[in-house]
Amino acid sequence: MFRTTHALGPTGQLKEYWYQMTTVLEIQRFKREGRRFAMLTAYDATTARLLDQAGIPILLVGDTLAMAVLGHSTTLPVTLEAMIHHTAAVARGNTNAMIVGDLPFMSYQISTEQAVESAGRMLKEGGAHAVKLEGTHSLEAVERLTSIGIPVMGHVGLTPQSVHQVGGFKVQGRSELDADQIKADALALERAGAFSVVLEALPSGLAQEITRLLTVPTIGIGAGPHCDGQVLVINDLLGLTSGHLPRFVKPYADLSSVITRAVQDFASEVASGEFPDPSHSYTSSPSPKKDAET
Ligand code: KIV
Repeated sequence: MFRTTHALGPTGQLKEYWYQMTTVLEIQRFKREGRRFAMLTAYDATTARLLDQAGIPILLVGDTLAMAVLGHSTTLPVTLEAMIHHTAAVARGNTNAMIVGDLPFMSYQISTEQAVESAGRMLKEGGAHAVKLEGTHSLEAVERLTSIGIPVMGHVGLTPQSVHQVGGFKVQGRSELDADQIKADALALERAGAFSVVLEALPSGLAQEITRLLTVPTIGIGAGPHCDGQVLVINDLLGLTSGHLPRFVKPYADLSSVITRAVQDFASEVASGEFPDPSHSYTSSPSPKKDAET
């Protein structure tokens, strides 16, 4: 089935594009054609359906599941089982988007065999089309996964699974030495076979340079406007996150207020007896048609 989406064309104007189910080849074509694209996180079937219907080409079942949904303060505690469970839910809600499943902390770092087994489960049980892993400590795993047909999205800059090593959720690559290392990491991931690379929390100029250096697309989060694509955590975009929001987050809605208002209205109508009214109640002798409906 063909769908339409809007993206900035090569000359900078907003264009409508036709597209089919998103594949790795298509994501790479986006870069060659200068088409910027959006990726969003999704953790459940309902959200996946809405994002897919809105034309988002890539849904990332991020390990931010730990923070956005499960109430943890870092991404470290989320298990492979939980990631597979939520990836499968996203797959059930999705029709056209490419689903990328994040490999959680300690599901790929031990050995290449462990990475292959975890990634295989994300595809077979979770229904993901690709996996994402952080950093360059598992380059051999990236090579092996791509050689057996599992597309890999890389992730450099701030890699939240290393939060304790880097001393917090901080901008990376501000010194020349760090910037050179991050450039080398991104290139190493491309060489190992990654089909795209997430750049997180980097100075815009560095992200621009990496985007120029790589032939595969970069997808930025807190990495400025020059990346090939941009990703946000869906809860942040929808205004569902409480407390501190990083500078790179732009909330496009305030669903927290919408939800609070709706549940308060419900509770007050329950208290007053206004809900349920006859139109939301059953009688003992309904019309046959109405009786069939719940
Ligand atoms: O886990 C995640 O949601 C991510 C994105 C923030 C890129 O890795």
